[in-house]
Amino acid sequence: MRKPIIAGNWKLNKTPHEAIGLINELKRELVDVEGVDMVVCPPFTALADAADALTESNIALGAQNIFWEDAGAFTGEVSGPMLKDLGVAYVIIGHSERRQFFHETNETVNKRLRAALKHGLTPIVCVGENLAQREANKTFDIIKDHAEGSLSGLSAEDMKKVVLAYEPVWAIGTGKTATPAQAQEVHAFIRQLLIKIFNASVAESVRIQYGGSVTPENIAALIGQPDIDGALVGGASLKAPSFAAIVKAAQKLEIS
Ligand code: 13P
Repeated sequence: MRKPIIAGNWKLNKTPHEAIGLINELKRELVDVEGVDMVVCPPFTALADAADALTESNIALGAQNIFWEDAGAFTGEVSGPMLKDLGVAYVIIGHSERRQFFHETNETVNKRLRAALKHGLTPIVCVGENLAQREANKTFDIIKDHAEGSLSGLSAEDMKKVVLAYEPVWAIGTGKTATPAQAQEVHAFIRQLLIKIFNASVAESVRIQYGGSVTPENIAALIGQPDIDGALVGGASLKAPSFAAIVKAAQKLEIS
């Protein structure tokens, strides 16, 4: 049984002050939660204050990106040792917004992934097709390309430390969620790919989150699918009541 994992991707939102406020609310709402991994991913500028606010809580801290070199002349980048030193445990890699707006490729995703693993951070690697690709029946080709390219050269042992996120680009921030059946179909496909690329034990243990307009209303049906192990939440993670409701729905499923 894979432990559900709900992560909030705050994207370009929340000043350090606002982050502390949101985290304090989340801590109150989620203090009793067990059996679900909970992660918040504020922007870099709020990580230090977020780490302080999260001390001794059951919520883990994640970053939204990582550079592959540890240090050097790379203006504007943030490295694994810097994140580790702050108490960061997770890092989102290859989000579609990075692929779309910042020229992220499978190759750079792979380099960032290796850096995260090298520094003991849990990577959340994102894959997903856009609307044109879905409409052209290219969804599985794109997922295969993203998965094979991003995970290239990883050992089975390392792959077991990775979390994957399926985020159809057409469902991100649009209010258009993939139906549970649409999402399940792709998650099952990803699990088959993991058998081919690695082995059955990797495929059985790797958690695959769904992301794209997840809300307290639709989470139960999504996470009720056999191959959906959690959610990567954007908009609904910016308010404590909605993020907490999503976590609690995942917990309820875990207990039932
Ligand atoms: P929304 O939940 O706002 O659609 O964003 C999803 C996402 O991109 C999470 O990484």
